[in-house]
Amino acid sequence: MKDVKGKTAFITGGASGIGLGIARAFGLAGMKVMLADLDQAKLNAAVEGLKSQQIDARAVVCDVTSRGEVQRAALQTVDAFGKVHVVCNNAGVGAGGTLGEVEPRNWDWVIDVNLKGVYYGVETFAPLIKSHGEGGHIVNTASMLGLVTFGGVEPYTATKYAVVGMSEGWRQQLEPFNIGMSVLCPSWVRTSIAESGRNRTTAYGGAVEPQPHPISDMVKAAIAGGFDPDIVGERVLEAIRANELYIIVGSDIRAMVEARFKAILEGCEASERSPALMRAKKQGAP
Ligand SMILES: NC(=O)c1ccc[n+]([C@@H]2O[C@H](COP(=O)([O-])OP(=O)(O)OC[C@H]3O[C@@H](n4cnc5c(N)ncnc54)[C@H](O)[C@@H]3O)[C@@H](O)[C@H]2O)c1
Repeated sequence: MKDVKGKTAFITGGASGIGLGIARAFGLAGMKVMLADLDQAKLNAAVEGLKSQQIDARAVVCDVTSRGEVQRAALQTVDAFGKVHVVCNNAGVGAGGTLGEVEPRNWDWVIDVNLKGVYYGVETFAPLIKSHGEGGHIVNTASMLGLVTFGGVEPYTATKYAVVGMSEGWRQQLEPFNIGMSVLCPSWVRTSIAESGRNRTTAYGGAVEPQPHPISDMVKAAIAGGFDPDIVGERVLEAIRANELYIIVGSDIRAMVEARFKAILEGCEASERSPALMRAKKQGAP
């Protein structure tokens, strides 16, 4: 989608961090933006800030763990702006820990926000974009932890690998309708994600303060030295215009991706040398 001026974008997690950076980049390029988020106070501040930059911004309170709330937010966006062209399923939270010590309710919370929130968004908005026939673009926020991982972040990385896989598949399905699909995989970005326990709703045990832990302390330090969310927003806009599938932000990802794919290819080579598989092949297996 090259021509974004005058088009409308819907952005979840739009009240802060990367979502707000995306909204700003879109707005400065002449798009109208609807921010969707749990946090009413941050939404109000975000809309006020965008309006001060002459951006046509509105907000809707929406918890992406509820398919009904995502559908209601979609209707409000269509009521407000007529059509939606670009959707960023970006709301996300983080939780992890040592094996065996991750609270079951944290597994549920992270999966419901980061994974279900994304497919609720795609399943709700793709038909709306198809219906006006003008084409559009969907960006799902994963992470570099959707491409590579390390120990201690399993709930988070499970959802982000899933978002990468779903986006690769949906891209094929949406292409005939002139709807692009990208998956945003940033390295560290200077946001409040390390305090995402503030967004844990009562269904998952309520808000929780960050607890000291070697992994969360490392993540916090990395985030503090990360990219400015406004730069990530600009990167997302570039990628929509170029219809990139993987929106990578950060050169530090390359070496880790190469190491992971090298290990996967070693698995393929071991399979090709496998006596068990060679025997099976002789007997007609694929
Ligand atoms: N910050 C990083 O280093 C980094 C790196 C890679 C990917 N990401 C991803 O970027 C996305 C945005 O996170 P961020 O870093 O800007 O953090 P952030 O905490 O600043 O922003 C997340 C936003 O999502 C909202 N939110 C949380 N739960 C919600 C829910 N159930 N419904 C609706 N809104 C909800 C929050 O209120 C907040 O405004 C997330 O998907 C995150 O996983 C972040």
